Amino acid sequence: MFEMADIHCHMLGGVDDGAKNHTEMYEMMDMAYADGIRHICFTPHFKIYHFKSASSIERYNQAIAISFDAAVEYAREKYPDLMLYLGNEVMYHSEVIESSESNHFKNINGGSYFLVEFQPEISVYDMRNAIRNILRKGYRPVIAHVERYAELYKKPDFVRELREYGALFQVNASSVAKIRFGKTASFIKSLFKRSYVDVIATDAHSTEVYTPIMSEAAKKIARSYGDEVAKKVCLTNPLAIINGIKLF
Ligand SMILES: [Fe+2]
Repeated sequence: MFEMADIHCHMLGGVDDGAKNHTEMYEMMDMAYADGIRHICFTPHFKIYHFKSASSIERYNQAIAISFDAAVEYAREKYPDLMLYLGNEVMYHSEVIESSESNHFKNINGGSYFLVEFQPEISVYDMRNAIRNILRKGYRPVIAHVERYAELYKKPDFVRELREYGALFQVNASSVAKIRFGKTASFIKSLFKRSYVDVIATDAHSTEVYTPIMSEAAKKIARSYGDEVAKKVCLTNPLAIINGIKLF
């Protein structure tokens, strides 16, 4: 099995609804490493409506920095070949994009890739506007867990349109590994068939639910679509995103 890179997870301890504390963060890092993950971009949630003021954003970012330092220290001692990076998973809100102080959230590894999520019930039209706004700002949107937006299931042309604009699609490892039947499974299959899956990531939140495991999904993709595709979505593409390299 090849090494893998995870660009979407909530492993930093005590900052969002992911790892509760540093102990759980270390356990999750152990699990990720044992699974074959060698690059982790921590992406704590950034939801603008959770903050009451600029200073509460600052406090949140300080907590992230402290937790990230602890993770770096842990990896330095235990896993010298584990590379760590920082970003955010940003809940889309026009205010986040329009604000002149957009440096209060982080793109993936500080580059131009913007990991974005939406409210699950968002209409395709609002999603299209959001994608345009993100691009206009000069960011490259990576739609987190694209399989979560049921509105897209019924509109394959719209999915193509989003890609033509330049949106990248991330699918959760657990959705690939665990969902076998039904509309979500068919949607994911249709994305793979059209080569629309750019990246698989764990979206790990704990050691029990949404775990930091990618290998199961990688193996399943290799079986269905070949080793090359599996390696592309689990290593090459996420690494390109981390390093700010243009994918298409
Ligand atoms: Fe997430």
